[in-house]
Parts: sequence; structure tokens; C-alpha cells
Amino acid sequence: MQYHPLQSPTDGMAVNGPIEPFVKMHRSPSRCHEQFKKLDESTESEESYATLTLKDGRTIKLRHLAPTAGSDIVLDVRSLYNDEQVCLYDPGFNSVASCASAITFVDGALGKCHYRGYDVSSLVKRHDFLDVAYLLLNGELPDTAERRMFEDVLKSEMLVHNRIKEFITTFVPGAHPMSILSSVLSAMASFYADPMDQRYMQDRAMRELACVRLLAKIPTVVAMAYKVLIGEPMVYPRADLSYAENFLYMMFATPTSPFVVNELHAQVIDTFLSIHADHEQNASTSTIRTAGSSLANPYACIATGVTSLWGRAHGGANEAVVDMLTDIGSVQKVPEFIKKVKEKKCRLMGFGHRVYKNTDPRAFVMQDLCHKVFAQMNAPDPLFQIAKALETVALNDEYFVSRKLYPNVDFYSGIVMRALHIPKEMFTVLFAMGRCVGWLSHWKEMVEERQIKITRPRQLYVGEAPRLLPGEKREKNKASEPSTDDKKSS
Ligand code: ACO
Repeated sequence: MQYHPLQSPTDGMAVNGPIEPFVKMHRSPSRCHEQFKKLDESTESEESYATLTLKDGRTIKLRHLAPTAGSDIVLDVRSLYNDEQVCLYDPGFNSVASCASAITFVDGALGKCHYRGYDVSSLVKRHDFLDVAYLLLNGELPDTAERRMFEDVLKSEMLVHNRIKEFITTFVPGAHPMSILSSVLSAMASFYADPMDQRYMQDRAMRELACVRLLAKIPTVVAMAYKVLIGEPMVYPRADLSYAENFLYMMFATPTSPFVVNELHAQVIDTFLSIHADHEQNASTSTIRTAGSSLANPYACIATGVTSLWGRAHGGANEAVVDMLTDIGSVQKVPEFIKKVKEKKCRLMGFGHRVYKNTDPRAFVMQDLCHKVFAQMNAPDPLFQIAKALETVALNDEYFVSRKLYPNVDFYSGIVMRALHIPKEMFTVLFAMGRCVGWLSHWKEMVEERQIKITRPRQLYVGEAPRLLPGEKREKNKASEPSTDDKKSS
């Protein structure tokens, strides 16, 4: 059957209410849809193939796949194992393209990041987070009517079910907000369940609804998690505020004191969310795709992204940077700390990246935000001075230069958040709030472009060869031969 990426026989059946016009709104298929189809087109031209020669003399032709940007050489090895029983050993997937995607492109050598073809550093200067979210989810920036509708439906979905609110209150005061967020998202899967979650696969409207609900509710859940952390009453969202203003309002308003959102702080949150919104196949996004590849409920899939993001090598780095700067304590102690890093006693958190080997463009945006908030405060954070001193020393040190280690987006992000009075336990959960739209875009793309193939890598087995249990005798006439070790011991 000819398929159209945005249609299915049950489209729109399951959705009604104020959200209905938005989820049923016609959107053209992504401009990149044809690229996905090309993946499966065969080609006769000899130049389109590379040849792999194995030690047994077999030669295998591997088709070149052409990326639409960048100079990577990509070889199609999809049938390599089934056809030839050859697999590739690559822990951490350094040299493996796990999927095809048309959402974000990172040029590690040039230090560039593009969302749907637009340079992120320029995009965030002209468009707010909701535009960026719409762009990532749908492939194009919204026109005025689309933007208004998108904002309206998000606002209509900001509240969470009272049982979710009650659930959040059961966490102990001081509970880490990432623990609360991942648990709440898993719990949401039971609120928005579908028998075996089939309709999420078949019905575009159901998918749109899941995306809108998650985007709308995450700031409310995150702010509620903060209130649990500090033991204050929860504050409900307001429809008259923007996405970022609303978040700050829910974080800092209390029933006893009026709270006026600082405009610059709202801008900072907005930009922070935008530059964290997506970053191609990072650990958490790959986790989402893995969970989604089993056709799991999308709310449950997003919960897996939160847990994967939590670690210090990924989204948890922003919290770890502030711990590190606090431990260093003063600019004078920077050389001593750098010595420890070079002796491999610890890592310089907020430095290094799997893909960027020149600069992380998002780090410049964060540094710029630092300068803006400190200019307004007129009182720079002492940790900012330590961070700048660390950066200067590291960028001129052979250890870091030779390994191509540069500040990443998280090096300055914690310092910016501190200036907004956001405690460090909240840094990673704010990252999750921004990245949620990237996770959703990848999940949606995977489903709509028929890119679902259950994730099931092979392995290089290095354990015991098959052997008999102690006292076990080999059955006579058994087809399989025991291993050499078995022969020796029997
Ligand atoms: N400090 C000191 N040395 C480092 C650092 C660092 N931050 N990062 C890498 N190195 C060194 C390693 O020790 C290794 O040295 P060696 O070749 O002498 O053994 C070399 O650089 C390569 O390191 P890998 O760990 O192999 O690089 P990888 O690409 O796997 O790791 C990562 C990337 C995880 C980001 C790493 O650079 C790191 O741990 N950075 C600190 C944590 C951090 O800031 N994470 C946030 C990443 S951005 C994000 O997720 C939003």
C-alpha cells in the first residue's frame, strides 16, 4: 500500500475537545520525506559501492548512502549480518549511524549545529522556544495562524491531573527532581494509555496529542518537583504568561507574595530551552529511539530519556560543573585542579564532546547569557571567575588541545541558572524540559517515516565457550560437539 507519512486509516478518530482543530490541521509532509524513501532504493552504479574484503577472501559490496549535509562517508551495512554473518564492534556507537534523521545536524569539525537546516545560534536570536519546538516537531517554522493555534493548545493542556499532583506530593522533601520527573512521566503512561498503545502508531492525531500534552505539562511537573524539593505549596500555571514566564512563575510564586517575572530571566530560560532542544543521536535521544522501537507508549519512552539524561557524562554535567567549581573554590586553585585532571584523577566537567572537536556553538550562547544576567545584577558570581580562569588555562594546555577538549553547553549553563536563583538540583531537569521536544520529534519521525526497527544490537561474546555443568555427562548422539575445554575435562 502506498503510504503517506501523515496519514493512516484511523487518523483523528481518537481526539476531540479544544485540541481537535490543531491535531487535525493539515500539515504538508516533511520536505525531507523523499530522502527517507531513497534509503531503500537500489542503485546499479558501481561508484555507489565500497568493497570490504574479509580474511577468508570474500568481498562484500557496501552501498554508499549520501547525507544531505557534512562530509561523512556512510556505508549501508543493514544486511551485512543476515547476508554474511559479519558484524561491527563499536561500543558507544562512535562509528555507527543508528538511524536516518532529518531533524538536527551537528558539524563537529566546524562547530555548527542546525535544527531543520537553520543555524541554532542565529535561530535563537530571532525565534522563541515555541517556534523552535514547532520547527523541530513539524519541519518548518510556524506561520502566524499555526503559531497561535500551537500556543493555544499548549495552554489548554498545562494543568496536570489531580492524581498526578497527589503523586508528586508523595515524594520525600529533597527528592531529586529528575527522579520525580521520570516517575511522573511513567505514571502518565497509565493516564494516557491505549490497549497495547497501537493507536499511537496508527493515528497521527494521537501522536500530536501526546507531543502537545508532554510539552505543555512538563514545566508544570518540573515546577511542582521544585516545590516538593523545598517544601512549598504547588503553584498552578497561568494562561496569560509565556512558556518561560509561566515556568518561572510556577517555580517562584507563593500564595503569600505576589511574583513579577523578570523579563530578562524569562528570556534566558527561553534561550536555554531552545539551545538544549535537540542534538541528534545523543545518549538520551538514542534511548528514546530504543524504547520507542519496541512500540512502547510515548509517555513511557520520554521517561527513559529523562533517566538517560541524568548522568554526569550527559545532562547531569551542568550540576557536576557547579560542584566542581565550588570544590575548586578560588581562581588561585585552578592550576592545582588542572594538574589533577591531567593525572586523570578527575575530569574537567563541562569540557569535551563526542561530536564537537572544535567548539560547541551552544557554549557561546550560554556565555553570552552569563554576561547579560551579570550585567543586570551588577554582581558577578565568583564561580564565573573560576570558570573563566579554568577555560583560559585549559584552552592553552597541550593535554586539552591535543584531545580536542573545549567547553560544551554545560560549562556555563549552571552559572547562568544560579544567577536566576535556580538551585543546582534543578539544572538537569531544566535541560530535560528543553530536550523533551527533541525526544518527541525523534519519536514522531521514527514512527511517521517508518524508521522503526527494534533495537537489538549484536555483541562480541568473550565469555565461556559452551560447556557441561559439574557432574553432567554429555548425551550420546547429541548433534552439537562439546567445546575443546569440555573434551579436555571429560
Ligand atoms: N576532562 C579531562 N579529560 C577528558 C575529558 C574531560 N572532560 N573528556 C575527555 N577527556 C579525555 C579522556 O580522558 C581521553 O583521554 P585519553 O585518550 O588519554 O584516554 C580522551 O579525552 C577521550 O575521552 P573519551 O571519554 O573517550 O571521549 P568521549 O567522546 O567518549 O566522551 C564526554 C565525551 C563523555 C562528553 C567526555 O568528554 C566527558 O566526560 N566530559 C565531561 C562531562 C561533560 O561535560 N558532559 C557533557 C557532554 S555535553 C552534553 O551531554 C550536553
